[in-house]
Amino acid sequence: MQNISKDVKLGKNVKIYDFVNLYGCEIGDNTKIGAFVEIQKGAKIGKNCKISSHTFICEGVTIEDEVFIGHNVTFINDAYPKAVTDGGNLQTENDWECTATLIRRGASIGSSATLMCGITVGEKALVGAGSMVTRDIPPNTIVVGNPARAIRKIGKDKSNESPFSRSESSVRINQRRNKRSYPAGA
Ligand SMILES: CC(C)(COP(=O)(O)OP(=O)(O)OC[C@H]1O[C@@H](n2cnc3c(N)ncnc32)[C@H](O)[C@@H]1OP(=O)(O)O)[C@@H](O)C(=O)NCCC(=O)NCCS
Repeated sequence: MQNISKDVKLGKNVKIYDFVNLYGCEIGDNTKIGAFVEIQKGAKIGKNCKISSHTFICEGVTIEDEVFIGHNVTFINDAYPKAVTDGGNLQTENDWECTATLIRRGASIGSSATLMCGITVGEKALVGAGSMVTRDIPPNTIVVGNPARAIRKIGKDKSNESPFSRSESSVRINQRRNKRSYPAGA
């Protein structure tokens, strides 16, 4: 059972699982959409993407080709949401502004991550599971935590340059360790 409205532009060979709700969006060739995913009008998903179950992709989100989106990922398009206008009426489309988010080619977003609006996730960057992303992520960079911070580079460019232009003191690079365990008796 799926709810796919007629205004959805579906590419070739798109695989859509059950309980998916799609309206006014575009999905590129070969992309897979897991169960219980909702994709709103105006959202664009590229080719060869994997969108895992329970993810919410709102208006204003553009996802380029070959992107992995984990389970239960949440996108945001309104930084200051309100239910009603100053006059006390329920807000309509005219009462708020949609803020865009861009996920560049080959990026991966871990499960249960939340992405604040107005940001760009760079090519092949990786967002750790459960992260809260509040700023742009450079290409080939892994970020984790709340707020998400870079832990290291991946891929070809593994330079030690700070991947973020702000809050450099909180950025940790190349701190990867061997298998860790919690302290005994903790
Ligand atoms: C981000 C990620 C790729 C890091 O893997 P890694 O490079 O092997 O990193 P490590 O496991 O060596 O951890 C490095 C540090 O980051 C921390 N860390 C790792 N993943 C984290 C996460 N998701 N959130 C917060 N901190 C995280 C570790 O605790 C460690 O910190 P420490 O050095 O202070 O102990 C991985 O942990 C992750 O979250 N992958 C996403 C998985 C996912 O959601 N898959 C989709 C569905 S299956």
